[in-house]
Amino acid sequence: MNARTTRTIAAALSLTAALAISGCSSEDAAKPEMTVSGAFMPQPVNDKMAGAFMVIKNDSKTADKLLSATSPLSDDLQIHETKDQKMQQVQSMDVPANGELKLERGGNHIMFMGLKSTPKVGDKITIELRFEKADPVKVELDVKERTYNAQNSTAH
Ligand code: CU
Repeated sequence: MNARTTRTIAAALSLTAALAISGCSSEDAAKPEMTVSGAFMPQPVNDKMAGAFMVIKNDSKTADKLLSATSPLSDDLQIHETKDQKMQQVQSMDVPANGELKLERGGNHIMFMGLKSTPKVGDKITIELRFEKADPVKVELDVKERTYNAQNSTAH
């Protein structure tokens, strides 16, 4: 093997290595981005609690988790799941890669515990969602009639 061949091979190898590294790091940097639709809150009965419902869509190939939520309306927002018609708090909720997390009546939801005021139909409530990987997302909840259901209203 002469010197020139050796140099050519070395150059080819280092190029391959560089490509592999950049491919790898862009993969690591692929942060999921969430889009939220149909966010609403049924008008609360009193200032004790309120539910928030929406669809959180993850268009990336990286699975993520909803960890918490904050809002000016309450200092205590919890993530609840519903099992056997009883709701219970969970620490996080999966948002699958190329999938969605549905927060809906009778199922998973965000719960405001203790409200600073009692919102009325037509009000908008700001809520910020925090994820394990994605950047926080600010969402406006439309306060709707108590019987409102997003599933029915989008069906037509
Ligand atoms: Cu609840």
